Amino acid sequence: MRTQVAIIGAGPSGLLLGQLLHKNGIDAVILERKSGDYVLSRIRAGILEQVCIDLMDEAGVGERMHKEGLVHGGFDMLFKGERHRIDMNKLTGGKNVMVYGQTELTRDLMDARAAAGLATVYEADNVTVHDFDSARPRVRYEKDGTTHEIECDFIAGCDGFHGVCRASVPQGAITEYEKIYPFGWLGLMSDTPPVHEELIYVNSTRGFALCSQRSHTRSRYYLQVPLSDKVEDWSDEAFWQELRLRLDPEAREKLVTGPSIEKSIAPLRSFVAEPMRFGRMFLAGDAAHIVPPTGAKGLNLAATDVKYLSSAIIEFYREKSEAGIDHYSDRCLRRIWKGERFSWWFTSLMHRFPDDGEIAQKLQEAELDYIVHSETGARSVAENYVGLPLNFGE
Ligand code: APR
Ligand code: PHB
Repeated sequence: MRTQVAIIGAGPSGLLLGQLLHKNGIDAVILERKSGDYVLSRIRAGILEQVCIDLMDEAGVGERMHKEGLVHGGFDMLFKGERHRIDMNKLTGGKNVMVYGQTELTRDLMDARAAAGLATVYEADNVTVHDFDSARPRVRYEKDGTTHEIECDFIAGCDGFHGVCRASVPQGAITEYEKIYPFGWLGLMSDTPPVHEELIYVNSTRGFALCSQRSHTRSRYYLQVPLSDKVEDWSDEAFWQELRLRLDPEAREKLVTGPSIEKSIAPLRSFVAEPMRFGRMFLAGDAAHIVPPTGAKGLNLAATDVKYLSSAIIEFYREKSEAGIDHYSDRCLRRIWKGERFSWWFTSLMHRFPDDGEIAQKLQEAELDYIVHSETGARSVAENYVGLPLNFGE
């Protein structure tokens, strides 16, 4: 089999890339290790920056997102028992974010791909990538016990943090930067109305908490927990009780609880692999970088990688130019490091670190007090939260 671009991974990165290439007449095959249902069962963050919204529109899959997504012009910071609003819209000259679950975004992309009759091989086993240092890369995979080979011009490694593409790069050709945080996020989803119209990020002496949402009737809450905790240790009742203790009196009063429909613990990591191009193979999204979830930058960074990659590939075929491809890694990394910086900073500001003493809490509270009372401080947070412009610094 032959295609122009072999995309490994049918998460948001792979699916969005496939759709953008298709819109521009470029042929791609997507190979995914898991089933479609499994991909849709993964619950991740749900805050879209304008750049991501624009890309969904460009890919022709924005209709349901605009209908069902909730536009937020601000969020609350809660510390020392009091809430303060960051008015992102005002501070950034009219920018907002949209609440729309990654699962829904993935479903829209999947449906559009299926409707266009484009090739996605789910449950593709033992995917391997070959000859990406030549002009004729190949990808091999097994399906139902038979081995298949795809010849292509490019390989797009959209296969997430545990994927095969980054792992296939010779060791000396890649540098990895990593930080693991000494706590996790216990997340709970419930079909209950959100405690507040906007998100609440909580710094409390008991640890971080986040009140998020998926719709007017579905809430998503998180608690900072020790890495040693297991989901089984947390009954729904224990979760709600601990959340109440981290909230302010008004939110505590307003909180509507109910049975969880999902509960899981996620570790927090900052990770970047450099570079993101190896001959004819490119990494995009979680395959190349991970941010801790504070600030919800993961999906948005993945989306901008895909924007840069699709533009570079389109330019290659249309204008017979390798300029975009040559530029891809540097362009992405410049943006990624800013997202990494913001996510690390926001995480450090909001969580309790087990080895830090009381002074750390006091310093966090002083910084938060500065941010919410200084227009300069608040604007810096708002500007990063809504997402830096695509051409930032250029
Ligand atoms: N062969 C084929 N597919 C693979 C392989 C492999 N060897 N390894 C991994 N995959 C698939 C995974 O099953 C997954 O569906 O690649 C996909 C990668 O998807 P994601 O992990 O969702 O990564 P990405 O598409 O880059 O999305 C980034 O996801 O984790 C969040 O915060 C992150 O929101 C961001 C988004
Ligand atoms: C979520 O809704 O899952 C979410 C929202 C904002 C974050 C992280 C996660 O910063």
